[in-house]
Amino acid sequence: MAPSNQQSLRIWLLVIVAALMFLVLLQRLPSRQVDSQKGEAPIILAIGAQDLELHILPIGAVVQRLIVRDKLGAKRDVALGFDLDDLAPYQNGTSPYFGAVVGRVANRVKNAAFQLDGKTYHLTANDGNNSLHGGKKGWSMHTWSAKQLSKTSAKLTLVSPDGDEGYPGQVTASVTYTLVQGRDSTDVRMLFEAATTAPTPINMAQHCYFNLGGVHEPSDVLDHRIQINSSYYTPVDSETIPTGEVEPVKGTPFDFREEHAIGERIAQITRPGPGGYDTNMVLWGFDGPDAALHTHNCVSAIEVQQAASVHDPESGIQLDILTNSPGLQFYSGNFLDGSIAGKGGVRYPQHGAFALETQVFPNSINTPSFPQCVLRPGGKYEHKAIWRFRKKID
Ligand SMILES: *[C@@H]1O[C@H](CO)[C@@H](O)[C@H](O)[C@H]1NC(C)=O
Ligand SMILES: *[C@@H]1O[C@H](CO)[C@@H](O)[C@H](O)[C@H]1NC(C)=O
Ligand SMILES: *[C@@H]1O[C@H](CO)[C@@H](O)[C@H](O)[C@H]1NC(C)=O
Repeated sequence: MAPSNQQSLRIWLLVIVAALMFLVLLQRLPSRQVDSQKGEAPIILAIGAQDLELHILPIGAVVQRLIVRDKLGAKRDVALGFDLDDLAPYQNGTSPYFGAVVGRVANRVKNAAFQLDGKTYHLTANDGNNSLHGGKKGWSMHTWSAKQLSKTSAKLTLVSPDGDEGYPGQVTASVTYTLVQGRDSTDVRMLFEAATTAPTPINMAQHCYFNLGGVHEPSDVLDHRIQINSSYYTPVDSETIPTGEVEPVKGTPFDFREEHAIGERIAQITRPGPGGYDTNMVLWGFDGPDAALHTHNCVSAIEVQQAASVHDPESGIQLDILTNSPGLQFYSGNFLDGSIAGKGGVRYPQHGAFALETQVFPNSINTPSFPQCVLRPGGKYEHKAIWRFRKKID
């Protein structure tokens, strides 16, 4: 009796140990193939290439961490944002769209209203009289269904119901992030797609705030050097709504055809509220009076081309922006004022980041002379943008 009892005890112990080892192994298996439509939403999706690591949140399809290598090969996070244990700001409207995909219509719609096919639509005004970045609860505050496609690619999808923030039609929108490692550069390629059940304006944009010096400590981007391939820009009124004019950049502080430091002429940009750049730059092919001619399903008929390039002489990190969009919103972090504590508790100062949002022109739904942004049933919105990171050693 006694020996066989001992034997069965041993067998039981073995079974328990084996079960425990199995559980431990399970925990260690990559838990990446998560589909939030089928189960619990993942907190984060991580994709990586040799020289770049990207963390994406299902909330707002947000780029929460963007790690690139500086001129010495050291890793730096160059995207402003919040820590994973502090996600509330992304959802409750306190985040100024850090890293988020904004929609249904990025940027401003004057008087939060527009006419389409003879009908007037009223949107939620969330920026004075105007609608900004999709309204009070725009796409950046919704949880998207998230799917990791591979080690280097992830897709996030959102269904926006008919009447969402006042917009007509049910829209199914997605953004796919894909990393492509080159010999001396690494791309974050973004494909924004949308389809609709009724005509609606569409203007999706990635609103990442970059600081190419890294976001581990407070610093500004005034010494970053920027070049933008724009000969024209769209002047704005006191509510930051384009007046409808398309003006040459020549002789203005908006002329970045030759590279300049962001801070060099920034004091010349005065407007109500904090000064600085918050300007739609007109990209190639949309110059002057022909501006309205060239869009198809809200994007350019031209293939992806380089729109701008920024580098930080200190870190040696360079970011090129490529797109098939007609416009590029250049924002110099004017409203940052140290009141927001982001990752690691770092307080982001004024001009602590820049944004370069590829988009159609602001308020284009109310400006017939601008490239148009109405998507109709059967049409397919395919907006592309590339962040190309490279080391600049001068
Ligand atoms: C949003 O969340 C942050 C962080 O938890 C909190 O400090 C802030 O008060 C919240 N704001 C609103 C409007 O709920
Ligand atoms: C809203 O529009 C009214 C009427 O045009 C104007 O008087 C007011 O200043 C505007 N509000 C803001 C915040 O600009
Ligand atoms: C934009 O400017 C860069 C120089 O920074 C140039 O290499 C690129 O070809 C230009 N792109 C277009 C479309 O003009």
